[in-house]
Amino acid sequence: AKSPEVNENSKDEQLEQYRTDDSGKSLTTNQGLKMAEDEFSLKAGERGPTLMEDFHFREKMTHFDHERIPERVVHARGYAAHGVFEAYDSLEHLTKAKFLSEKGKKTPVFVRFSTVAGSKGSAETVRDVRGFATKFYTEEGNYDLVGNNMPVFFIQDAIKFPDFVHAVKPEPHNEMPQAASAHDTLWDFVINNQETAHMMMWLMSDRAIPRSFRMMDGFGVHAFRFVNAEGKSHFVKFNWKSTLGTHSLVWDEAQKIAGKDPDFNRRDLYDSIEQGDFPEWELGVQIVPEDDEYKFDFDLLDATKLWPQEEIPIQIIGKMTLNRNVDNVFAETEQVAFHPGHVVPGIDFSNDPLLQGRLFSYTDTQLLRLNGPNFHELPINRPVCPFHNNQRDGVGRQTINKGRVSYQKSSFTNSTPAPVSEAEGGYSHYQEKVDGRKVRARSESFNDHFSQATMFWNSMTSPEKEHIIEAFSFELGKCQESWIREGAVEMFTNVNLEMAQAVAKNIGVAPPASGGSNVTKASPALSLENTVKSPAT
Ligand code: HEM
Repeated sequence: AKSPEVNENSKDEQLEQYRTDDSGKSLTTNQGLKMAEDEFSLKAGERGPTLMEDFHFREKMTHFDHERIPERVVHARGYAAHGVFEAYDSLEHLTKAKFLSEKGKKTPVFVRFSTVAGSKGSAETVRDVRGFATKFYTEEGNYDLVGNNMPVFFIQDAIKFPDFVHAVKPEPHNEMPQAASAHDTLWDFVINNQETAHMMMWLMSDRAIPRSFRMMDGFGVHAFRFVNAEGKSHFVKFNWKSTLGTHSLVWDEAQKIAGKDPDFNRRDLYDSIEQGDFPEWELGVQIVPEDDEYKFDFDLLDATKLWPQEEIPIQIIGKMTLNRNVDNVFAETEQVAFHPGHVVPGIDFSNDPLLQGRLFSYTDTQLLRLNGPNFHELPINRPVCPFHNNQRDGVGRQTINKGRVSYQKSSFTNSTPAPVSEAEGGYSHYQEKVDGRKVRARSESFNDHFSQATMFWNSMTSPEKEHIIEAFSFELGKCQESWIREGAVEMFTNVNLEMAQAVAKNIGVAPPASGGSNVTKASPALSLENTVKSPAT
């Protein structure tokens, strides 16, 4: 079957059929019955009790009672907009993904920005990672690039994610504190899981308090794979670069704004789009040929390591513009379901153990959050290309699938959707050779937790370094247990002794005299230009 024509307006046109404008219309029940009265419930006499037969009251109240759905278990606080992605050039030599195959090709996108730890109503300018999730509505199906505004992550293996999130979220016995970065359980997790060191440096940096969603970069974090039409594979990392550059608040501003305008970041995004001042990002990729997989002193599959640009330069391949606010935040922003496993032909996964676990987690949580298996039928989640299979029924099913047969294979003529070959656009997984024993282990270089954390520190300007020391001091200063503060100071001597000493002094811990024992190798003052640089404030 030929792929449908997709242009930058395809999603908007699809959504149009679901939009309703209720203004000026007669009030009806959900059954279409016009109602003569909507202010008084039906009573037995003017001063009597409300009657059970008041179907209008019951329907209205029941619907209201069911208006809330569970918030996302992480990234609950988010804001989104529509836009378009334009490819700068054909990337056919690297990937057969059609949306990257032609110079000037335009694909509609939907992007949701978020904080990670806070609840749905929390303030936006807190110190936290920001989510940066993009859904490309391509002619071959939805492709989701579910990233963050930092290039690395706290942990190396998905099995630790529930532990990490339990440590970050408010403590269970008193539901405090909302602020992710300032409490005992987080720092207890950190000192006991030292793979967090690099990401904690980012979290203590100005990148964790972006001035605007428009002024932050995005990172896919993991190694993914590009696969071209000849079946050749390259490892790839994705990097959104804000054309406005990265800008941060200072901590004092961030705290004051959190009190005065908890909606600061969404207001900024909404207003700039309403005013026609459209935010833009260029998409960069770092490419590693499969044959070079073992060429580096870190493991490409380790999500706590970035790929230094000196070794693996970034190529810019396209531009994304956000140009339209949503019509309804619940219907679109809240109900959108991103998933790193939503891929198109030409994009595949690596064996990064963090990514592998994510591939399970997103659909699983959405089955709960969006109440059953049919959330792909929600307008915001529908691909702009047709979708057909033998899945049937379930809560809230919208499609009326016709015919007797809903199984494969069948001899009824022309009965059910059948798989199509790779040549006709069918997705086929990259045939990576895998050969090994079943073990709960990881390669040796995963144990180097500090080299890149030190590189990060060394690449900072003096004001940025000061901000990092202040952030550590503020956050650790909030820890009630002295052994946690001491443990953290000791751990971060492995990153930089002077930094740890300055923090120790600020939080009443005896300053360490020498560098940590965990330093596994020397860390040159490699410049991480563009990857980590943020403007001095
Ligand atoms: C949201 C799991 C790591 C980026 C979520 C959600 C879950 C989850 C359950 C809620 C999804 C929903 O309710 O729709 C995990 C697990 C991880 C992991 C198990 C590690 C094992 C990461 C990493 C990144 C990331 C490394 C960035 C590269 C996001 C973003 C969202 C999200 C941006 C919000 C998506 C939205 O706006 O709807 N994650 N996550 N996550 N995750 Fe992860």
